[in-house]
Amino acid sequence: MRNLFGNTIIGDCHPELPRGLEYHRGEWGMGSASIEEAWLLYGLITSCKPQLVIETGTETGWTTAWIAQALTDAAYGRLITVEKDQKKAQAASERIAGMELASRVEVVCDDSLKAIASLSDYSVDFAFLDTLIHLRLLELQALRTKLKPGAIVVIHDTSPQHPMAGNTKLLDELQKNCKSILHINSPRGITILQPNLPDKWVRSERSCIPSLRFIFPTWFPGPRKIKRWFRQAT
Ligand SMILES: C[S@@+](CC[C@H](N)C(=O)[O-])C[C@H]1O[C@@H](n2cnc3c(N)ncnc32)[C@H](O)[C@@H]1O
Repeated sequence: MRNLFGNTIIGDCHPELPRGLEYHRGEWGMGSASIEEAWLLYGLITSCKPQLVIETGTETGWTTAWIAQALTDAAYGRLITVEKDQKKAQAASERIAGMELASRVEVVCDDSLKAIASLSDYSVDFAFLDTLIHLRLLELQALRTKLKPGAIVVIHDTSPQHPMAGNTKLLDELQKNCKSILHINSPRGITILQPNLPDKWVRSERSCIPSLRFIFPTWFPGPRKIKRWFRQAT
């Protein structure tokens, strides 16, 4: 599978397998999401065009770069990524700047729960939770009042076969607590939630392509009407 940022490496790997180093070629963190998972994030973000994304656990900036690239390609939205370790936050920030993705990214050096608490209510469209496994549920809880209706939360490392997540029964807890859940049983596991479902889905305002009806008033004839006029006239 193609790596958006250069290397071509195929296949997911389990965090405990030695392929971890080979997989990211030592460039990115050992705990980094797989390329498949990175593509999944990329696809979700380019599809839903979130205005505000929050990521917890920046580390080297690998998933940060994928999210930022998706926002750049969608020409929409911004990312706040939170990393507790000051050195990592600084290095990731420089890396993102070097990749020319900084205009859509703010790297915040803070504790994830504090950073989430400081967000405005109902401001978040998309969250990716990837700090320490035992923090995932607390972060999700802290996010509840921060999520817009229909917002998507992606949680990494949820698979029951994950050596750390399995013990915390993270997936069981997520299934118990959320009505709208899609679990992808990749080696590490990735779970997609919509904790704050809207009562009714309404038309999205987040399209990049403005409707022609927005440019032209409603009385402006569409191509079918023009064709009909042409047929009648000839
Ligand atoms: C698994 S790594 C993140 C990997 C990254 N998302 C990727 O895929 O490239 C987890 C990171 O979370 C950071 N972290 C741990 N506890 C944290 C907390 N309470 N708040 C913010 N960051 C935290 C760690 O320093 C570490 O860099």
